[in-house]
Amino acid sequence: MKHILLEIKGAVGTLTIDRQDALNALNFEVLKELSETLDSLDFNRVNCLIIRGAGTRAFVSGADIAEMKNFSVEEGHNFSVLGNNVFTKLDSLPIPTIAAVCGYALGGGCELSMACDIRLASESAVFSQPEMGLGIIPGFGGTQRLAVLVGVGRAKELLYTGRRISASEALNIGLVNAVYPTEIIFEEAEKMAQRIAKNSPTAMRAVKKAVNKTYFSDLHTNVEANLFASCFETEEQRAAMEAFIERTIAKKEKEKK
Ligand code: CAA
Repeated sequence: MKHILLEIKGAVGTLTIDRQDALNALNFEVLKELSETLDSLDFNRVNCLIIRGAGTRAFVSGADIAEMKNFSVEEGHNFSVLGNNVFTKLDSLPIPTIAAVCGYALGGGCELSMACDIRLASESAVFSQPEMGLGIIPGFGGTQRLAVLVGVGRAKELLYTGRRISASEALNIGLVNAVYPTEIIFEEAEKMAQRIAKNSPTAMRAVKKAVNKTYFSDLHTNVEANLFASCFETEEQRAAMEAFIERTIAKKEKEKK
């Protein structure tokens, strides 16, 4: 694997997304590796899974804008279907999952955290669904899971405005379960995971199934994938994504001088 690292300590697995030069952004390759890693988990051995990003700047900065920039409608659809399938796979694992969010969790990053059972955040964590500013919509389940977690009214406000929220606001609205100083976020996630992993695998599988059946089994991810795709090849999408790329190129040029 180029971008995914899986470490196992006792009965706890830690899956790290490592693509730090793009703040761990999700492209086709990362999503495929994530999918394969989830398929490879041995549930006789792993009883709780932590998901984190490499480094402390970002959990995941979202779907890869450079890759999406020139997508056709069909490519947009395929990307959303892939992302939604991987996140549904994560959501449906028979073990508890904890997102340890340090730094940016934007777009697909926020969606990845929401596909986990529990979200722990560092004080530096920043959450947002900024897709509106890119002329698209969330494509990895964000239009569905955000509303389940924070309520429809709040979800719509966050989706329409794309505004960034701090860890403490995320805690207030129920998007995250707890906030820790940045220096101890991964330690705290490990502690919680080790505690949870001691439980009966059968009982945990059962409680997760019971909760998910009620709240997460009827997600309309196919509807989202079609609507996500419909935003591509539009003037707004092309211009907004081009502007992001140009901004980062300009920033680099300035830093060189
Ligand atoms: N896709 C591709 N590259 C990204 C990226 C992304 N989502 N986020 C950051 N990067 C890259 C930057 O292009 C830059 O690369 P270079 O060094 O090669 O120029 C590098 O990561 C560092 O980023 P910045 O220089 O921008 O760092 P910063 O500290 O100034 O800003 C940031 C950090 C606020 C996260 C900013 O990078 C940003 O706004 N990123 C985009 C966030 C975003 O819009 N995410 C949503 C994507 S859409 C989506 O996810 C849809 C979906 O549901 C499927």
